[in-house]
Amino acid sequence: MQVIRSPAVMTAWAEAERRAGRRIVLVPTMGFFHEGHLSLMRLAAGHGDRVVVSLFVNPAQFGPGEDLAAYPRDFERDRDLAGRSGVDVLFAPDVEDMYPPGFQTTVSVGDLTRHLCGSSRPGHFDGVATVVTRLFGITRADAAVFGEKDFQQLAVIRRLVADLNLGLEIIGHPIVREEDGLAMSSRNTYLDEDERATALCLYESLRLARREVAAGVRDCALLRERVRAHILARPGTEIDYVALVDTATLEPCERVTDTTLLAMAVRINNRVRLIDNGLVLTGT
Ligand code: PAJ
Repeated sequence: MQVIRSPAVMTAWAEAERRAGRRIVLVPTMGFFHEGHLSLMRLAAGHGDRVVVSLFVNPAQFGPGEDLAAYPRDFERDRDLAGRSGVDVLFAPDVEDMYPPGFQTTVSVGDLTRHLCGSSRPGHFDGVATVVTRLFGITRADAAVFGEKDFQQLAVIRRLVADLNLGLEIIGHPIVREEDGLAMSSRNTYLDEDERATALCLYESLRLARREVAAGVRDCALLRERVRAHILARPGTEIDYVALVDTATLEPCERVTDTTLLAMAVRINNRVRLIDNGLVLTGT
């Protein structure tokens, strides 16, 4: 596996691969890899001839007071893990290379970014959409893999690729969970033992909602209240949002259908913000 730091070198490599008729699949990440990231890399390997993983902690998608400086980093470990997961190039640019002097373009997606994480993290999706568009350009990717863990992010990327006719295939990957159900996240490393136990309330809430729906509940307001009560029963939790939304529009639903998604963001001890989501009308 090669490590490339320079965008120009990355693009030259990608152009040569494309001229040779090879299909490039990109997995954008911010590093500190866990099994979720590695699953995306393995999926990418099955969808093309070359896998590029980008590792860039993107300052533009962190708000003031968020965890940009504290975001976990371990380049050597990430390099080793990527190297063992079928990755051809680890693209790890510096901030100055991704945002060189004179950079002044923002990619901003509309309605899809107004709810959920968009309302609690203003500007976040502009930062994501801009960096991802730039990564698509630099890597000349034919396809890119994103996790459903960040369901809204995946929807935003699908929208921008369609709206701007970028011509890449966007491939979604289901949420990868710990054995007890906690969605894997680089931010889980912030949790101490008690907080780790508290964090399980997100997945428990998803299961609770699924049980209620399986028992016949269809009223989203009622479901939302049950989920909120379950989360708030745990000391140290604060709800950023609990929402039942349609997977296509991310607009709130009134009645449960087979495209109704429960999406949650919860702060633990006013320190760690975790997200989770899932369809509520399923057998599981
Ligand atoms: P990051 O949080 O590092 O996540 C990189 C990719 O891994 C995203 O597509 C995310 O949805 C996916 N992912 C993370 N945890 C997952 C899990 N438990 N199961 C399945 N997929 C999971 O998301 C970002 O970085 C950034 O916003 C980025 C897209 C790189 C733009 O900066």
